[in-house]
Amino acid sequence: MKSFKIEMLLYKNIFKKKILINSHKNFYKTYFLRNNKSFLKTSNTIKGVRKIILEKKGYQWYLKKQKKKVKNFIKSINIKKKQAHIEFKRIEGYQLKSWAPLKLNYKKLKSFFYYYKKYLYSSNKNCCVHGDLTLDNIIFNKSNTFIIDWEFFNKKRNFRGYDLAYLYLSALCLPYLHLKKASKYDESHFLKLWKLLSTLNVNNKILRDPFNFFESYIKKDKVFKDSLGISKSKFFPLITNKKYKNRVKRLICEKI
Ligand SMILES: Nc1ncnc2c1ncn2[C@@H]1O[C@H](COP(=O)(O)OP(=O)(O)O)[C@@H](O)[C@H]1O
Ligand SMILES: [Mg+2]
Repeated sequence: MKSFKIEMLLYKNIFKKKILINSHKNFYKTYFLRNNKSFLKTSNTIKGVRKIILEKKGYQWYLKKQKKKVKNFIKSINIKKKQAHIEFKRIEGYQLKSWAPLKLNYKKLKSFFYYYKKYLYSSNKNCCVHGDLTLDNIIFNKSNTFIIDWEFFNKKRNFRGYDLAYLYLSALCLPYLHLKKASKYDESHFLKLWKLLSTLNVNNKILRDPFNFFESYIKKDKVFKDSLGISKSKFFPLITNKKYKNRVKRLICEKI
């Protein structure tokens, strides 16, 4: 199965070689280059350049973990003070709908646990985090899984489990925000995933009160702060209402 979103864009822009991918407001623009079969991120602002540098660092770390060569994925890169671009190879596969009921994505979310454990998790005090791991940033195909969009890459102390917790919580909250209600099935499946997460040596604050942890990090971190200025709605921990946050916290405390 191909990525439906990208295939639609290719179809709609049949005569264009360079197609703008409009996901949300940002300091860089993302294009699909039809002839090169690649994705290009480009910016001419200092904030955008900072993100492109992080993206590069994130991929370097992630590809090394998988024993893959960076040059096979990053096709070109140029970083100057106020201008930068990075071009990636297109990864074939499909993306799951991040706003679809969690129950529908449950199988893949569960199997992602093992992928996370193998390639991303570290039990060290200092660990690397993707920072924005939602289903929108994972490409699945039959034989592989691949994580994209490393603009919030960071190395942090005591952040064990951050990305997996963020992914599982987003899989509950994004559908909730989209449908404006929560289903019992989604919540019970979410708790199963959270139990799985608790088998890892995760920072207890993340495990017990994830919203609080995510919110304060997003509000404090410099790169997140830049993004918050232009697109607050991008971060589900900041836009989920208090009542639902408390409900999720209670569920976690009762069941885990
Ligand atoms: N290397 C890639 N292979 C396949 N699809 C990609 C790749 N890079 C980006 N995309 C597609 O472009 C979309 C936007 O890219 P992304 O890196 O997530 O930027 P952002 O979300 O910050 O705009 C992704 O959701 C995905 O559909
Ligand atoms: Mg993205």
